Amino acid sequence: MLVILQDLHDQLGYIDSTVVELVAGELNISRADVHGVVTFYTDFRTEPAGGVSVRLCRAEACKSVGAERVVEHAQQVFGVQVGQTTPDGSVTLDQVFCLGNCALGPAAQVNGKMYGRVDSDRLVEILATTET
Ligand code: FES
Repeated sequence: MLVILQDLHDQLGYIDSTVVELVAGELNISRADVHGVVTFYTDFRTEPAGGVSVRLCRAEACKSVGAERVVEHAQQVFGVQVGQTTPDGSVTLDQVFCLGNCALGPAAQVNGKMYGRVDSDRLVEILATTET
């Protein structure tokens, strides 16, 4: 089921209730089972993301080198809290708890690309060069 959901998520960008029902039917399992998997893994979105996906690490190693300042700045710049998409749909801001890039924290992932040593200014630079 996980591989199927990952493939569908890659193709569609999210897994909504329609997809949950489809997968449950094809695998002959309950919708609750599929829904449980989708909501357990935070990498699965249940609604479309904005044009740019910004994921900021808030785990301990990144926190110790300033991740919270980056998160606060991003929330101010975008006018949304983590887990939300800007009203114009241009940016989705998410938090993650370790991107496996701890030695280069604060770490961020923008549209799937990893960045290290991210501060507020660098985040603005990254977004300026990111294609939507
Ligand atoms: Fe941030 Fe590991 S703690 S990448």
